[in-house]
Amino acid sequence: MNTTQFLLPARKTIIGCCVFLMMILSVFQELAGQKTLTWTEEQHRPQFHFSPEKHWMNDPNGLVFYDGEYHLFYQYYPEATVWGPMHWGHAVSRNLIHWSHLPIAIYPDSLGYIFSGSIVIDHQNASRLSVTPEHPPMVAIFTHHDPQGEKTGTQTFQSQSVAWSADRGRTFQKYQYNPVIQNPGIRDFRDPKVIWHRPSAQWILVLAAYDKVMIYGSKNLTDWNFFSSFGVDGDHRLWECPDLFPIKVEKTGEEKWVLITSIQKGAPNGGTGTSYFVGDFDGKNFIADPSAQQWLDYGTDNYAMVTWSNITDGRTLAMGWMSNWQYAQQVPTKNWRSAMTLPRELTLHKIGNQYKLYTMPVKELEQLYQTNLPVYSGHVPSDGLLYKQQTLSRILVSAEESPASEVKIQFSNALGEELVAGFDPHKKTFYIDRSNAGESNFFPGFASRHESDPVTSDGPFVWEILLDQSSVEIFGMKGECAMTDIFFPTKPFSAASIVCQDADRKNLKIQVNSMNSIWKDHEK
Ligand code: FRU
Repeated sequence: MNTTQFLLPARKTIIGCCVFLMMILSVFQELAGQKTLTWTEEQHRPQFHFSPEKHWMNDPNGLVFYDGEYHLFYQYYPEATVWGPMHWGHAVSRNLIHWSHLPIAIYPDSLGYIFSGSIVIDHQNASRLSVTPEHPPMVAIFTHHDPQGEKTGTQTFQSQSVAWSADRGRTFQKYQYNPVIQNPGIRDFRDPKVIWHRPSAQWILVLAAYDKVMIYGSKNLTDWNFFSSFGVDGDHRLWECPDLFPIKVEKTGEEKWVLITSIQKGAPNGGTGTSYFVGDFDGKNFIADPSAQQWLDYGTDNYAMVTWSNITDGRTLAMGWMSNWQYAQQVPTKNWRSAMTLPRELTLHKIGNQYKLYTMPVKELEQLYQTNLPVYSGHVPSDGLLYKQQTLSRILVSAEESPASEVKIQFSNALGEELVAGFDPHKKTFYIDRSNAGESNFFPGFASRHESDPVTSDGPFVWEILLDQSSVEIFGMKGECAMTDIFFPTKPFSAASIVCQDADRKNLKIQVNSMNSIWKDHEK
């Protein structure tokens, strides 16, 4: 035997032993909670939704498109996985789908924590904040929340302030004469959202003032005049994170205004939720149409949804915080808490006499659809099984007409846990049932079934379902009905089946795509 013949098998044995030892070590590290799991391994980590690298996140803030980048700032507490002194975290994306995490953008200061707010690009430098005219200032308008003032029982501990950036949001300076809107004596006075109002050539700001919205105007983003307020007689629930924007009605091109307001109590399926009014805005007053307040989402987990500013392709794009204040701080994730909804396109439709805001995932999401895997495309298979080895999927169910009986999609794992999404054609409602979808003992009532209001649009039946590791979003009738729910299975849901009556079996068409993870590159 020559030396090479002897060394080769020996080397193989040594390598084999090393691999074996590393595997044992990794198992021990995992058991001891020391191993850093990659983002595709971490339990519950959303794979195609934005989540912070670590620690606590709530509302999206300062959504703005600038110089080819979609910015996502967000309420962030960098020292724990529960709410605390608020900063603005920051991420950017060039396609609304793949996000890069950036350092914290705005820190608390002597005036207090940095609560929710918005960003605009001051193209004309009317604010005179920028000293280099080739870089228009990116201006953040946010709430300063003074925790000392709150403790000492004053009513005036929230006021509106400005910070600006000349380097594409990488660093911000606070305006030296903050706050720019003093508190008029209202305990809950926060979450300014600013838009450019072309007809009156000025900035318009809406903020939540307890149970109503207050509207202000300014020519320069730092001097603000109060114009009007809008509320609902007899409704004294707490409003947060308003948004006001014009939008053209599909097919007719008529322009209407939408006022979004998030509500802290009494959402259709409990806790916090995002609502809206459709109406008109004359530059000073918002006048709602007689139709009542409507819900933007019938699930439990879409709060503080607001739109992007400075979008140049005419779309209205929005994102919400995918949780609910009822249990956001108790959900069983380890290193981080909360994710955002998918970015969505909002469109306005007139059905009969009523205007309705539809929401659909942005078309950019299609780049994550995988087509090379054995997923189902056709009519309902006889055993109903759509797949049994995927964890992320998009399912599109359609038919010329509404199904005759109930249709359900069941996502399940080997432990018998399941998440069910369904449509009831008799009531014309969609629902999500997470009553047996995994961990739920962190909040009584988390294990529950949520149902939408009846849909009203005619036309073909279209129902899209997007399943991530710990969330499901459903879009019924091309976005007339949106529902967003989170859940926490002990093991990922890896199989999906459709359940329907024979009469519907031949009419329903199903297309299933598995989805790519947006974090694959993150791990390279
Ligand atoms: C909404 C909200 C806002 C506030 C922020 C604080 O979720 O309560 O009203 O600005 O969160 O983090």
